[in-house]
Amino acid sequence: MSTALIILGAGMGTRMNSDMPKVLHRIGGAPMLIHAMKSGAALLPEKTVIVAGHGAEAVGKAAKAYDDTAQIALQTEQLGTAHAVAQAEDPLKDFDGDVIVLYGDTPFIRPKTLAAMTAARLTHDVVVLGFEAADPGRYGRLIMKDDQLDRIVEFKDANDEERAVTLCNSGVIAAKSETLFDLIDAVGDDNAAGEYYLTDIIGIARARGLTATVVRCDEAETLGVDSRAGLARAEALFQTAARTEAQDNGVTLTAPETVFFAHDTVIGRDTIIEPNVVFGPGVTVESGATIRAFSHLEGCHVARGAVVGPYARLRPGAELAEDVKVGNFVEIKNAQIDEGAKVNHLTYIGDAAVGARANIGAGTITCNYDGVFKHKTTIGADAFIGSNTMLVAPVNVGDQAMTGSGSVITRDVPAGDLAVARAQQDNKPGFAKRLFEKLRAKKAKGS
Ligand code: UD1
Ligand code: MG
Repeated sequence: MSTALIILGAGMGTRMNSDMPKVLHRIGGAPMLIHAMKSGAALLPEKTVIVAGHGAEAVGKAAKAYDDTAQIALQTEQLGTAHAVAQAEDPLKDFDGDVIVLYGDTPFIRPKTLAAMTAARLTHDVVVLGFEAADPGRYGRLIMKDDQLDRIVEFKDANDEERAVTLCNSGVIAAKSETLFDLIDAVGDDNAAGEYYLTDIIGIARARGLTATVVRCDEAETLGVDSRAGLARAEALFQTAARTEAQDNGVTLTAPETVFFAHDTVIGRDTIIEPNVVFGPGVTVESGATIRAFSHLEGCHVARGAVVGPYARLRPGAELAEDVKVGNFVEIKNAQIDEGAKVNHLTYIGDAAVGARANIGAGTITCNYDGVFKHKTTIGADAFIGSNTMLVAPVNVGDQAMTGSGSVITRDVPAGDLAVARAQQDNKPGFAKRLFEKLRAKKAKGS
């Protein structure tokens, strides 16, 4: 059975108190919406429709950045969840498989749970994802009757007996496309909120003799984000899960609670991650690497056996080959560092290629930016860059070449050559001693 996803994300998210639409607030470096899309992607959906309203342009852009086949349906007025789903009818008019409705502000639904829902669809017309709530609060209540889901009642509309039910609605619903839109057509807005409730389709389905059931999941999985505090709680849950996953994959985390992962971080087995390391999006670290304390990595690749940090910053496009060493207070951006090269201290390497086994001295800077354009620096294999060398790009240093400490290199250095580009040293015999005497005498006179 082919599947389509409808992800609701038109709501304003008033309680976020933000100019940004709620579903674009980030967890693990990715908008919540992308987490929902990722969960759904496990079902290999034929179509994905994002219902957007507030900040629709930005929501559409983020969705398409993740999946350029995603379609955006506009809901200009937020009249309720059923009305939101109805906006996806047109983009799905040629689709006749199963539809799963997800919320863009509910980022932790597991692919396994969605698979259980599609399995339950084989025996029931409508499947709802429910959970036992520790504190059912304002969630919709799932009312069961004779082993079937009979209806969902929203908190605002529920009587005391219904409010006592602890089995709650997560919001995720699955049904055949045709069935879903037929049922939605019949939904009205005569209720406490004056909204078109998606949840009403269950009662309507049952009245028409269709079947409905509940697939249950853990409450943590259906956690929705409504406020900044909720966002922080979701981030904490995400990080806890990411740390456990890394550990299960054979990664040593010296102080797990201080390491922060992104939604797409990949770390190989037997890598060691010391305390206070932060991974931005797009990082892959191979097996047996060491990421030392207080390092920040983003959009980069670290090969087997490399050692990064402490206090290193790897920015997008940093490519570290095997056994590379990048030390303290070193920043690397858009640069390929070949096998065994060392960039150990206080250095900026940007828009560059560094050859195998090259040694980059402390305080080296690739001066890659002229204020308008970026330029490339190439350093050959086995080259030795003296401390405090300024490499004014575009510039090439050949294999086994050397630069003298403190040099400002503006022209290419051929392979095997030594380039020294600094003022000549001039020693003045006894001069310092005489100067000191003069100065001390002046101080003694009190002036
Ligand atoms: C909804 C459910 C409730 C469930 C709860 C779980 C309904 C009527 N109620 O309530 O049973 O327990 O979720 O969290 O469905 N949205 C739109 N357009 C709209 C309205 C909402 O796109 O017109 C989107 C929101 O952006 C959000 C999602 O739908 O992503 C849920 O809307 P929300 O207002 O949070 O519903 P709840 O009142 O929480
Ligand atoms: Mg909600």
